[in-house]
Amino acid sequence: MGDATADGRPETATEPPETGGAVPGLDEAGLLLEIDGAVATVTLNRPERRNAMTFATWRGLAAIGRSLPAAVRVVVLRGAGPSFSAGIDLGMFSGESGGLPDGSDPEAADRFIAELQDGYTWLRRPDIVSVAAVHGHAIGAGFQLALSCDVRVVADDAKFCMKEPALGLVPDLTGTKPLVEIAGVGRALELCLTARTVHADEAARIGLAEILVPRAGLDDAVRDLVGALLAVDAGAAAATKRLLWQAAGNTLEQQSAAERREQIGRLRALFGT
Ligand code: CAA
Repeated sequence: MGDATADGRPETATEPPETGGAVPGLDEAGLLLEIDGAVATVTLNRPERRNAMTFATWRGLAAIGRSLPAAVRVVVLRGAGPSFSAGIDLGMFSGESGGLPDGSDPEAADRFIAELQDGYTWLRRPDIVSVAAVHGHAIGAGFQLALSCDVRVVADDAKFCMKEPALGLVPDLTGTKPLVEIAGVGRALELCLTARTVHADEAARIGLAEILVPRAGLDDAVRDLVGALLAVDAGAAAATKRLLWQAAGNTLEQQSAAERREQIGRLRALFGT
């Protein structure tokens, strides 16, 4: 990704689009972007393929992140049809939907994967809160997309599965870190190396779902959460998100210093000094 400003927003962001139509190629990427003031909703939109994702999908997600209007404070990720996402489009293994790199040029493959990861990492930017609204299957790359979000609202029909090792691969779309942070190494290992399905109730028990609701109540629950998130001061929200996401990697001393720094910034903003 390009250089970022203090709040994590790319410096290169140009005039923001008001609708998804301003980000080129989203249709072909199987994505729908709707922006309503401070809320952007990204819908994985290939229901006939259970929202299977291609390289174009991941590049499209990265493009959305780069061109998000400055007014957007909450990004909701959801899936159209019966599932959140069935993960990578299996046609990519046969070359049908664009082949995978074969690894013979490790540097090129590294760059290639890094570009796809950009589709996920922007969801952690402090200037937005990202919310995954998960129903049905969230498999492989779909599970990792949910893990890349700050908060997961999960319907009671949700089924998570980290399928990559069963296909001879590793989860490489930035999902291993949040999975370990949420569930611990032992549980993460057990889930990945058995590629078993985690149903919604277990997901809530092990911390994969912050909010668990009946399927019919998913949209309302997301709407309520978004309303509550927007009710908090934008600057305080960004500063608090910065603090919370760095807490695990900091010593108590470093984190205390970070709290002081952020609070001084808040005081200056509040008192105009
Ligand atoms: N890629 C391409 N097409 C897919 C797909 C996928 N991942 N998942 C589903 N589809 C297609 C099916 O082929 C089917 O197409 P047709 O109607 O033309 O037959 C259509 O979507 C509907 O699928 P199902 O009839 O199977 O729907 P279902 O609701 O009964 O089952 C499902 C849903 C459990 C997700 C099942 O489709 C499934 O297991 N899909 C494969 C999941 C998978 O293995 N994904 C890869 C994960 S690994 C990863 O993502 C990361 C990585 O880097 C490797």
